[in-house]
Amino acid sequence: MKTILVTGGAGFIGSNFVRHVKGAHPDYSIINLDKLTYAGNLENLKSLEGESGYTFIKGDICDRGLVDEIFKKYSIDTVVNFAAESHVDRSILGPEEFIRTNIMGTFVLLEAARRYWQTGSNDTATSKNLFVHVSTDEVYGSLGEEGLFTEETPYAPNSPYSASKASSDHLARAYFKTYGLPTITTNCSNNYGPYQFPEKLIPLMIINALNEKPLPVYGDGKNVRDWIYVEDHCSAIDSVVHSGKSGEVYNIGGGNEWQNTAIVRLICELVESKLGLPAGDRKRLIEFVKDRPGHDRRYAMDSSKIKKELGWAPRHTFRQGIEKTVDWYLDNRNWWERILSGEYMEYYKKQYEER
Ligand code: NAD
Ligand code: TYD
Repeated sequence: MKTILVTGGAGFIGSNFVRHVKGAHPDYSIINLDKLTYAGNLENLKSLEGESGYTFIKGDICDRGLVDEIFKKYSIDTVVNFAAESHVDRSILGPEEFIRTNIMGTFVLLEAARRYWQTGSNDTATSKNLFVHVSTDEVYGSLGEEGLFTEETPYAPNSPYSASKASSDHLARAYFKTYGLPTITTNCSNNYGPYQFPEKLIPLMIINALNEKPLPVYGDGKNVRDWIYVEDHCSAIDSVVHSGKSGEVYNIGGGNEWQNTAIVRLICELVESKLGLPAGDRKRLIEFVKDRPGHDRRYAMDSSKIKKELGWAPRHTFRQGIEKTVDWYLDNRNWWERILSGEYMEYYKKQYEER
C-alpha cells in the first residue's frame, strides 16, 4: 500500500503510468497533480473517473503552497515526477516555460519532499519514501554513428528542453548527495503509443497520413532515435519504484534504433494496408523540410543496468508496438479530432468547474 503523487499524470506517459499502477497495484492511492497545459488532457484518464483511490488535482508543480498542502493532506510517500514541458520544437520557440516548469517545478517538489519526509529525530526519510524523477536520454547530447549512452555518459544537452531536464536531474542528484533525500533519476529514450499528443513524430505522421496531409521530415531524415513502447517505459518505472536504489540513475531504452525516414515510410505502409490503399499512396506525402536548429543526430541507450539489477526488459517488439499504435489512432479518431479542434480543453470545464 502506497500513496503516490504522480505529477503530469494527464499527459502522455503520465496517464499511461496512472493506468498501469491502477492495474498492477489496485490498493495504491494515486494523487494526480497536473496543470492541464495544452499537453494535459483528462480524456486520457476517463476510465478512472470516480474510481476510489484516484484523485485528480488541477495545479502547478511550481505552486509551493499547493504542493505543501498535498504532501500534508494526503501523506504522500512516493513521488513520480512526469510534469514537464516536453516538446523540443516548442522549447526552441519559447524556452521560458521549460525553465520554469522543468527546473523550478522540480525544485519545489524536492523541497516539499525534504520538508515532509525528513521530520524525524535523525532527519531521515522512511523506507517507503522515494522521489522518482522521470527524465530523458536527450540530456546526454548527440551520438555519432557508433556507441550507446550509459549512466556514466557526461551530460551535454543541446536544446532548451534537454538543458532544462538536465538541470532538474542535477537537482535530484544534489538532493540525494546533500540532504540524503531518496531520489532516483530515470533517463528514457523516445516513447510512442496511445495518447501521445499529435505534435510528436509518430502520432503526427499517423494522423497526417490518415488525413492525407503532408508528412514533414526534418533535414535529411537520417536522424536516429531509440523508440520504446510507452507501456514498457511504465513497467520500467514501476520496477524502479519498487526495487530501485536511492541515489542511482537508470537508463531505459527500447534497444530499437530507427532513422526518421524509415519510421515515416513504415507508418505510411501500415496506414495504406489498413485503409486498403494502393502501395505508395501515402508515401508520396513525405516532404523534406528545413532542419530543426541544434538537431541531435543520434540517440541510443544502453539499458543493461536496469535489466541486470532490476530484472526489467521491454515486452514489445517495435513491429508489435507500432501496429498497436497505428490501430489505436485509427480506433480513437474522436480523441485526436477533439485535440485538433481544441474541444478537448473544454472537457475539464464540463467535468469539474461547472459542477
Ligand atoms: P506530455 O507533454 O505529454 O505531458 C506533460 C504533462 O505535464 C501534461 O499533462 C501537462 O499538463 C503537465 N504539466 C506541464 N507543466 C506543468 C506544471 N507546471 N505543473 C503541473 N503539471 C504540468 O509529456 P510526456 O511525453 O508524457 O513526458 C512526461 C515526462 O517524461 C517528461 O518529464 C518528459 O521529459 C519525460 N520523457 C518523455 C519522453 C518522451 O518520449 N515523450 C522520453 C523520456 C522522458
Ligand atoms: P520528436 O517526436 O519531436 O522527439 P525528440 O525531438 O524529442 O526526439 O522528434 C523525433 C524525431 O523526428 C526528431 O529527430 C525530429 C524528427 N521530426 C521530424 O522529422 N518531423 C516532425 O514533424 C517532427 C515533430 C519530428
